Amino acid sequence: MIEKTLVLVKPDGVNRRLVGEVIRRIENKGLKPVCLRMMHLNEKTAEAHYSVHKGKDFYDRLIKFITASPIVAMVIEGENAIELCRKLAGATSFHDALPGTIRGDYACTTAENVVHTSDSLESAEREISIFFRPEQILKY
Ligand code: CMP
Repeated sequence: MIEKTLVLVKPDGVNRRLVGEVIRRIENKGLKPVCLRMMHLNEKTAEAHYSVHKGKDFYDRLIKFITASPIVAMVIEGENAIELCRKLAGATSFHDALPGTIRGDYACTTAENVVHTSDSLESAEREISIFFRPEQILKY
């Protein structure tokens, strides 16, 4: 099924000049960006995006980290885009992220893990709508 998913290059990825590397890996896998924006997240948007993690011990640090400096947000489209982007990203846990994945190759900690990708169709739709309006998503 052709799907759309949200990918964020987080502040650590932007500061380490990994935006091109993330997009290269996504494009090499046959997926395509259909919307892309660099932005400095405010707290309100960060809290909406990470609402499922509210109350967890890492939540406050996560909001501080993701709002600290610019990110790149993009909508990625393609066959099985949600699962493929998760595979490209690798496991959330720093210890479990395998070499060859973005996190396995670049993440230094579980918290600062270079990218976010939506984990389900429902999350993808919810998260994309936080960052983009429908008319900003291109068809080509
Ligand atoms: P992400 O895929 O964006 O989803 C939630 C984020 O919270 C995750 O990536 C990490 O940045 C962070 N996170 C998840 N689990 C932990 C943890 N155990 N300790 C610190 N940060 C975490």
